[in-house]
Amino acid sequence: MTAQPVVGLAAGPDAATWYQDAVIYEVHVRAFADSDGDGIGDFKGLLGKLDYLQELGVTALWLLPFYPSPLKDDGYDISDYRRIHENYGTLRDFRAFLRGAHDRGIRVITELVLAHTSDEHPWFKRARMAPPGSVHRDFYTWSETPDRYKDARIIFQDFETSNWAFDSVAKSYYWHRFYSHQPALNYDSPHVRQAMFDVVDYWLDMGVDGLRLDAVPYLFSRDGTTCENLPETHAFLKELRSHVDAKYDDRMLLAEANQWPEDAVAYLGDGDECHMAFHFPVMPRIFMAARQEDRFPIVDILTETPPIPSNCQWGMFLRNHDELTLEMVTDEERDYMYRVYAEDPQARINVGIRRRLAPLLGNDRRLIEMMNGLLFSLPGAPVVYYGDEIGMGDNIYLGDRNGVRTPMQWDGDRNAGFSDANPQRLYLPVVIDPEYHAQAVNVANQDENPSSLLWWMRRLIALRNRFHAFSRGSLDVLLPENRKVLAFLRVFEDERILVVVNLSRFTQAVELDLSAYRGMTPVELFGSTQFPEIGDLPYFVTLGGHGFYWFSLEDNSEPGGDASRRLTVRGGASDALKGGAKAPLNRVLPSYLAERRWFGDKSRRIRSTEIADVIPVPGNNGGPPAGHLVVVDVNLDQGLPESYVLAVAHAEGDDAAEIRKWRPESIITDLSAGGREGVLYDAMTAPAFSNALLDVMSRRRRLSGKHGRLESLPTRALRGLRDGLDADAPAVPISTEQSNSSVIVGNRLVLKVIRRMEEGVNPDVEVGRYLTEQVRFPNSPMVAGSL
Ligand code: GLC
Repeated sequence: MTAQPVVGLAAGPDAATWYQDAVIYEVHVRAFADSDGDGIGDFKGLLGKLDYLQELGVTALWLLPFYPSPLKDDGYDISDYRRIHENYGTLRDFRAFLRGAHDRGIRVITELVLAHTSDEHPWFKRARMAPPGSVHRDFYTWSETPDRYKDARIIFQDFETSNWAFDSVAKSYYWHRFYSHQPALNYDSPHVRQAMFDVVDYWLDMGVDGLRLDAVPYLFSRDGTTCENLPETHAFLKELRSHVDAKYDDRMLLAEANQWPEDAVAYLGDGDECHMAFHFPVMPRIFMAARQEDRFPIVDILTETPPIPSNCQWGMFLRNHDELTLEMVTDEERDYMYRVYAEDPQARINVGIRRRLAPLLGNDRRLIEMMNGLLFSLPGAPVVYYGDEIGMGDNIYLGDRNGVRTPMQWDGDRNAGFSDANPQRLYLPVVIDPEYHAQAVNVANQDENPSSLLWWMRRLIALRNRFHAFSRGSLDVLLPENRKVLAFLRVFEDERILVVVNLSRFTQAVELDLSAYRGMTPVELFGSTQFPEIGDLPYFVTLGGHGFYWFSLEDNSEPGGDASRRLTVRGGASDALKGGAKAPLNRVLPSYLAERRWFGDKSRRIRSTEIADVIPVPGNNGGPPAGHLVVVDVNLDQGLPESYVLAVAHAEGDDAAEIRKWRPESIITDLSAGGREGVLYDAMTAPAFSNALLDVMSRRRRLSGKHGRLESLPTRALRGLRDGLDADAPAVPISTEQSNSSVIVGNRLVLKVIRRMEEGVNPDVEVGRYLTEQVRFPNSPMVAGSL
């Protein structure tokens, strides 16, 4: 491990597939924060809110289109692919925002609206003037009659009657799939394909991490087909993917394909097309299951969903910037959804419902939590739509889908803290519906109240981020007799998460067949609450109305013993320490710490740990590190978190066997790293580590971690005391464990690790130094130095 910059995007084996673990926040630049008081959000405003997003815990932002545009489809009508709409700032602002996001470890996904342009795009203006059959004309699809491609459906049913529009300049019809001011690009033209590759390179070169491919099923059209999902479209996407892979190693393509599962999955190819695709059909079925109080719709669609390639991921969402689309349901199901979720016809648009999450769910807090619980535990990367983390309302009386695109509500001040502008100047009015009024529903209010939805979402996201099983785990649906309860297992390496959801508004009891996990203990994750051990009988659980549990099934075959701690990582051993709160080592630390004599909080239960910093201690002669000093924040069930220092070393093969035989109590965990078996153990028991620390001190070296630095502070006494000691002097741990750990080096020096970190200078060190350096008091041991 080398010293890393203080902040930045995570490295390590999972870095290239970051999207698999992503928690995505969908945000519209114009709706988030207005920095210059013109009533429209902008990149400077968004930059200023990155700390909020980091605290929320999201790992990627998906930005709606921010390019020059006449804004007749909120920016999905692009008139220039390479600039920023002047309302939102400049390219320089965009770059500053991108840097700000990356510095906070947040990835950025932007829109690649590749299927169509605005009719104000220079390509279209040029095309309508160009002679038929010319390269420029053929950037779009033209026809003498509006009869071709008759089997293609009309998507914006409330606004359009045909997919053809007549252009009086070209004296010909042009093809479009959405609004008529959005002429479809003609992907049969190699010039169009090349032009789009250039656009992709332009943004990826700038550092954008992912592209959402808008309306991707419609790139090609052929007579006699529905003009969706054609083989030509897939061939083009594969070409695009290999183009991207050839130039970059960690970028992501996300398909917006509102399709049935088997058609959507095709956009992932064999792992060689898009990296992600939205799972559209599962979304309305979550809403149906909640209203019918029956798990069937969810289980059914999950069964219908084919497996996806191992390097891919679903995008999951409850709501987004569009209507809650009802295209991927049957006619009866659609009628049902309209009846129960959109009784007011004003709430309906096209084939869907234009409402935000909270109003859809009747502002029922428990239901909102349950739905988010599902979103964050079903397979896929969850997408949170801005404002839904505070339960924002909507305004169905605004046109088109604007009712769900109103300004973010930051506080109870003017314009909800979104903008200083005259309220009449805002791009859309702030929500003032009495139930969801911005004065009540806003970030500032919820930040002050630990019971708010915002705080609950922060906790939910933090929990999700702790376990790879949620993002990468397998799915195993249990089918208990009570159909009002949905239960499933997510398993990844040694993580086993059991999710139990009560879809009913009333209390339910359920018996789960957990025989495969007999002897294990379910630990409820929000409260670290241990449930009874799984025995021979079906596991009995009761749940309050719309309640849900996330359990970790913990193996306690040897309760608390070292043998029960075991980790598997794919890369090298140091991967076990990487990832802060997500580092694999956190999974075994609670049990390891609880057994240590020097762990001072015996009366309190450890809820979780978080690796705050890792400092490699260099080994002999520039070799690999002798071990790592690891600072761990320990969250307890009561009181404030505490920080402890661990010394961690790795051994495999014969060395590991020696440790297992002679010093089993020093083992932190068994570790299989990259398929090789070994152990992580307390480095204070390794002579090489103690000598390495002394060496660091003697040479006054500074060691850097990710967030902090270790300074050497030797006293004048050190040289004399260490004189004549070899770099491999014997170092013997004092076996009676105390509240700190000590090692006797070369029969001359005592190396003491103060385990619990506290602010300020340790009194032992301060007094010892004074007696050694100032007073030269002969009757107390000299202090050689400190780190
Ligand atoms: C996608 C977008 C939607 C837009 C349409 C046309 O479906 O999500 O907002 O109107 O494409 O570009």
